[in-house]
Amino acid sequence: MPATTLDQLVSLCKRRGFVFPSSEIYGGLQGVFDWGPLGVELKNNIIASWWRTNIYERDDMEGLDAAILMNRLTWRYSGHEETFNDPLVDCRNCKSRWRADHIKGRCPNCGSTDLTEPRPFNMMFKTAVGPVADADSFAYLRPETAQGIFVNFANVLASSSRKLPFGIAQVGKAFRNEINPRNFLFRVREFEQMEIEYFVMPGTEEAWHERWLHDRLDWWESIGVPRARIKVYDVPPQDLAHYSRRTYDLMYDYPTLGYEEVEGIASRSDYDLGSHSRDQETLGLAARTNLNRDSTARLTYFDPESKRHVVPFVIEPSAGVGRCVLAVLAEAYDEQMVKEPPSDRLRPVADALEAFLKSAGRSEKIAADLRDALLERGQAIAAGLPETLPQVETLLAMPGADQIELGKKLRGQAQAPVDEYFRTVLHLRPHLAPVRVAVFPLKRNHEGLVAMARSIRRSLQTGGRIRTVYDDTGAIGKLYRRQDEIGTPFCVTVDFQSLEDGTVTIRDRDTMQQERVPASELGAYVELKS
Ligand code: GAP
Repeated sequence: MPATTLDQLVSLCKRRGFVFPSSEIYGGLQGVFDWGPLGVELKNNIIASWWRTNIYERDDMEGLDAAILMNRLTWRYSGHEETFNDPLVDCRNCKSRWRADHIKGRCPNCGSTDLTEPRPFNMMFKTAVGPVADADSFAYLRPETAQGIFVNFANVLASSSRKLPFGIAQVGKAFRNEINPRNFLFRVREFEQMEIEYFVMPGTEEAWHERWLHDRLDWWESIGVPRARIKVYDVPPQDLAHYSRRTYDLMYDYPTLGYEEVEGIASRSDYDLGSHSRDQETLGLAARTNLNRDSTARLTYFDPESKRHVVPFVIEPSAGVGRCVLAVLAEAYDEQMVKEPPSDRLRPVADALEAFLKSAGRSEKIAADLRDALLERGQAIAAGLPETLPQVETLLAMPGADQIELGKKLRGQAQAPVDEYFRTVLHLRPHLAPVRVAVFPLKRNHEGLVAMARSIRRSLQTGGRIRTVYDDTGAIGKLYRRQDEIGTPFCVTVDFQSLEDGTVTIRDRDTMQQERVPASELGAYVELKS
């Protein structure tokens, strides 16, 4: 079964070390997460794939890594100081604060409709640069990476001698003081963006906009998010951001959330380069910009054909790394029943689940909304048995579940049949998998097997091309399951035959088929199949 709820992904990410709440031992920080050992590998592989596709496999792109802190004037002339706002409302009854367009006129905390009128709340984080906090030291943490590209346009153009059309790509952190961060990695306060600003001759922007839409959808397909799971939303004019003439939002069908934006592809006209330029009145700008008396540069391009300076138009594909990771995990996630559990193994779990739900229904230790969510989820699991058996662990990871005493008993009953009859698999594309190869010795206390397994690990990992781990902490079947759950495409086992003829078994994650391969050919085999 593919992932049907966001909770399944949250539970996997916590359990296997993809993502942790930030500073958890101090109670965490809302809307901020840390990438664990497997998460950082997956995230870096996604970023590497994006960089490879958009920079190395094209000949019209340059890379950039601009600073997070920028002169405050950047944000004045970009329009963010004035317009980067969300509508904030207060609940007069319980004093909580909400984003007006997320709550349909009713406080999600207490249900009251006694709300203040929405007022603009600027989402940029503020800080001070240097030891004295005054007007001169005031700075923002950037809310998007894009502006670092625009203010460097002239530097990149001069140093690279590029001709239009060309683009500049950047991956980096962005910060937004979201009023209500929520849904795990989906809406957070600190996140990474992968952004391209593609500069084109005015008049060619519509064709380039369509071309980028096509190219970006191809990339999503290449990382395992198929075209059929993305809707292209042509944002209506009244909902466009202040800089945009037209935007296509790529909407992915997230479990629990439904279709939500994973990437925006905006046609930004000459708004950005025009806004950051001096002598604007001489540039014949198409966009309406604020008057800029502070910039020291004219951000134009000299067109050798017409012998005129023009302000290029911009197409901007902009994707969030966290939302991308979530979409990739959701697509890859699969709970497979390897064989049907017999009814005498299932009945004790069904009974324990029923008792747990009864106890949860009576419990006064947990808030009503958490209790309702637990009951709804638990009943869905009970109705879907045996296929839903692995979801018991997700149920027990839900907020409030740890308050129910019978949870321990339920976990105890479910664990053994889940291990025996199911496997959770991440069908990640091999180039994205946090671990590409896992190597096991058939026996962990046999010197020859261990030495050969460790030497295979070292040789595959050499040069950093194939992320390989060694593991001998359990029986082979259990080790396979553990690697399936984190998406490792290949598992290599060193057995007694290996010591005689130098061959090993290599098991395919998706088909579970095994082949014997000479250990010396493993690297080539893995590269070929990846
Ligand atoms: N430079 C254009 C720009 O920043 P955006 O639509 O505000 O456009 C681009 O953001 C992408 O960044 C979104 O499609 C989304 O993937 C990601 N993103 C934006 N806000 C986010 C948040 N609070 N948490 C996680 N990702 C976010």
